[in-house]
Amino acid sequence: MDKILQYLKENRDRFLQELCTYLEFESISAQPQHDKDVRRCAEWIAAHCKDLGMKAEIAPTKGHPVVIAQTPRTRSSKHKPHYIVYGHYDVQPPDPLELWNSPPFKPKIENNRIYARGVSDNKGQHFAHLKAVEAYLRTGTELPCNLTFIIEGEEEVGSKHLTDFLKTNQKRLACDGAVVSDSGMPSLNSPALTYGLRGVAAMEILLTGPNRDLHSGIYGGSVENPAAVLCRMLANLHRKNGKIAVTGFYDDVLPLSRKERSEIKKWPYREEAYRKSVGVPALFGESGYSPNEQRSARPTLEINGLTSGYQGEGSKTIVPSWASAKLTLRLVPDQKPKRILQAVKKQLKTLCPPTVKMKITEGHYGEAYLFPLDDPRTEAALQALKFGFGKDPILLREGGSIPIVNDFKKILGVDTLLLGLALPDDNLHSPNEKFDIRCFERGMKMSAFLWQKLAQN
Ligand code: BES
Ligand code: ZN
Repeated sequence: MDKILQYLKENRDRFLQELCTYLEFESISAQPQHDKDVRRCAEWIAAHCKDLGMKAEIAPTKGHPVVIAQTPRTRSSKHKPHYIVYGHYDVQPPDPLELWNSPPFKPKIENNRIYARGVSDNKGQHFAHLKAVEAYLRTGTELPCNLTFIIEGEEEVGSKHLTDFLKTNQKRLACDGAVVSDSGMPSLNSPALTYGLRGVAAMEILLTGPNRDLHSGIYGGSVENPAAVLCRMLANLHRKNGKIAVTGFYDDVLPLSRKERSEIKKWPYREEAYRKSVGVPALFGESGYSPNEQRSARPTLEINGLTSGYQGEGSKTIVPSWASAKLTLRLVPDQKPKRILQAVKKQLKTLCPPTVKMKITEGHYGEAYLFPLDDPRTEAALQALKFGFGKDPILLREGGSIPIVNDFKKILGVDTLLLGLALPDDNLHSPNEKFDIRCFERGMKMSAFLWQKLAQN
C-alpha cells in the first residue's frame, strides 16, 4: 500500500485541478437545454478514464449516455473478483442561483473544501475511486480486483435508461458485487457503511377548472378555484400526527426491530444541532419515531412543487384556470412503488370534487434497498473505511435513493456496498454544494484498500 499512498499524496493537487475541470461541465440531466453539456461531460470523463489506462467507452441510451470504463485485464485477471463501481456525472439544477456565494460551475477551493454543483453529489465521490485506480495503474501495482466503472448521466432524473443498459450488457457486467459512493456519513470522525436506502416514487397532479383564467370579481364565488381545491386535497394527504392518510399506504411497511431502533439511537447526530442546521423553528414528523428514524427508515410523502395562477410581481385578480403539484414518496422495505402510486391515485380521486378535472401522471420510481449485513464483505468494507478515515465506522440507514442499486440486485444478482463520502452539511441539491477535500483524500485511501480486502474475501 505504501507506494499507492505516496502516489495519492504526491498527486493530490493535480487531482483537485482535474476534479475542478470535471465540475465545470453543466451536466444538468433534467434540463434539455443542457443536453450538449451532459454529452461533453460524458466525453470528458470517458477520455480521462482512457488517459488513466482504462478501456473506456460512451454507450448511448435512449436518454443521456453511460460511460463504461474497465481496468486493464491481464492474464491473472481470470482469478480476480469483478466489482462494478457506480457513480453519476449528471447533477441537479443549481437554482436558485442568487443564493450561491460563488458560481456553481466555477469551482472554488476554500478552507479545505471545494464548492461547486455536483462536487459531492456525485463527481467528487466517484472521482476518488478513479484516482485510487490511477494510483494502482501508475505505480505498477497489481489491482487485486477487476473493476468496471459505470458512470451514468441520468441518476438525478431516476436512472430510467440504465436498467435497459444493464439488461443488454448483463453478460459483460457479470460481477461479484457493486460499490457505490453516493451517500453520506455523519462526520469526518464517523465514516459509515450505509446498509439501507429509501425507495422513491414520483407523480404529478394537474387540476383544471375554468377554460381560462377568469376575473375573480366577475366569476369568483360561483366557480371553484383549482388552487384552493389542490391545497385542500394535498392537505388531506397527511394527518396532524405526521402519518400519511392514504388507505393501504403502510400495509407493506416492514416495522423497525427493537435492535435496529436502539442502534439508530446511537448515531452521532444531535436533534437540536440538526434542527438548527436546517433553520426551522421546530422539527416535525411522524409521531412515535425519532427524527433519525423518520428520515431514514420511515416512508414519507412530499410536495416538491406547487404551481398555479399569477406568480409575477404585484397582484392579479383571477380565478386561475389550473393548478398543479409535483409529489414524491420515499418508500421503505417492503413497499412496492407501483402499488403505492395506485393507492395515492385512488385517494386523490376520492378527495377530488366534481368542480375540477384531474389528471395524474406517474413519474420515475424505485424500491428501497437493504444490504444484507450478514454478507462477509461487510467486514471488508468496515476495515477499508477504518483504514481510510482512521476512525471506527458505523452502520447507517439513509433516506435518499439510488434506484439502480435494486437493478444491480435484480438483473446482475449482486448486492451493493454503499460507502458514502458526503458530509451532512455538503448541501446536496441545495445552493453552495461543497465537498470536503479530506473526504476526498480519505475516500481515495479507503477505495485503494477496499480492493485488497475484497480480494481476500
Ligand atoms: N446521492 C443521492 C442519493 C443519496 C443522498 C443517498 C444522500 C443517500 C444520502 C442521489 O444523487 C440522489 O439525489 N438521488 C435521488 C434519486 C431520485 C431522483 C430518483 C434522490 O434521492 O432524490
Ligand atoms: Zn442527487
